[in-house]
Amino acid sequence: MAGKDRYAVFGCPIKHSKSPRIHQLFAEQTQQSLEYTAQEVPAERFRESVTGFFSRGGKGLNCTLPLKELAWAFADLTTKRAELSRAVNTLVIQDDDRILGDNTDGCGLITDLKVNHGISLKNSRILILGAGGACRGILAPILENSPHHLILANRTRQRASDLAAEFCILGDIEACDFADLKGQQFDLIINATSASLNDQLPPLADDLLAREGVCYDLAYGNKPTSFVRWGMDNNAKKSLDGLGMLVEQAAEAFFLWRGIRPQTKPVIDVLHSARRFVSGV
Ligand code: ATR
Repeated sequence: MAGKDRYAVFGCPIKHSKSPRIHQLFAEQTQQSLEYTAQEVPAERFRESVTGFFSRGGKGLNCTLPLKELAWAFADLTTKRAELSRAVNTLVIQDDDRILGDNTDGCGLITDLKVNHGISLKNSRILILGAGGACRGILAPILENSPHHLILANRTRQRASDLAAEFCILGDIEACDFADLKGQQFDLIINATSASLNDQLPPLADDLLAREGVCYDLAYGNKPTSFVRWGMDNNAKKSLDGLGMLVEQAAEAFFLWRGIRPQTKPVIDVLHSARRFVSGV
C-alpha cells in the first residue's frame, strides 16, 4: 500500500518552524494526503540529508537558514527567480528524477503586500534596509512592480553598492549607508537586515517614513519585532512583520508540489490567533 507523499523543511535551528503547521492546514483545506515534517539539518550534513530524503521517496523540500545557498548549488536545475536570488527555499523532484530548485520568498512578500494588505508598489518610494541574502531574494520582484525609486541602505555600504550594480539591469537602484538617508522620505520601508532577530534596529531617523507610509519586517516572532515597533512609534499606516510572507511563500511551494493553490487567509488567521497579536493593524 502506498503511503502518504512526504515533504519536509530542513534548517538549523528548526524547532520553532511554523512550516509543518502551515502545510498541514493547506493539506486539510485542499484534501491532499501528505506528510510534512521539520528536520534539523546543519550545513555540513545538507547534501547527504537531501540525497537520502529524495532517494527514500520524498517528494519535496523546503530549505531555510542556513541552507538556502547550499540548496541553490545542489539543485540540478533552477527557476529564473532562484537564479537571481542565488538561493533556493523549495526543492521538488521531477518525473525524470532531477531536482528542481525554486525560490518563492520574493513572490510571497509581494503577494502579502499587494493582495493581503492592498499596498501598491507602483510609483512608490521604497527603501530596503540591509544587503544580505534576504535583500537579494526580494530585489527582482520589487523592481518588477515599477516603484518610483528604490534605495538600498546598508551598514556596510559596499555590500549595498555591489547588489545595486548586480541588479541594475532590472531597474534603477541607489545604494547608500544609513547616514545618507537624512532628509529623505519613503512610502514603504522594508527591513531585510537580521537586526530584528537580535531585537536590534539600524539607526533610522524619525522622519524617514512618509505620511501614510508602511513598514514591513521580513522577520517575524511571537511578539512585534523591533522594526515593527519602530513603525508603530513613527505613525506607520501599517507596520507588518513577515508572518504573511511566510504563509504566502509556503502556498507557492505547495502549488509547485501539488498543483493546487491553497487559500492563505484562513491559515494566516490561525497563526495570528496562536500568537495573540496581529501586527500592523
Ligand atoms: P545573509 O546570510 O542573509 O546574507 P547576513 O550576511 O548576515 O545574512 O546579512 C544580514 C544583513 O543584516 C546585512 O545587511 C547586515 O549588515 P552588514 O552587511 O553591514 O553586516 C545587516 N545587519 C545585521 N545586524 C545589523 C544591525 N544591528 N544593524 C544594521 N544592520 C544589520
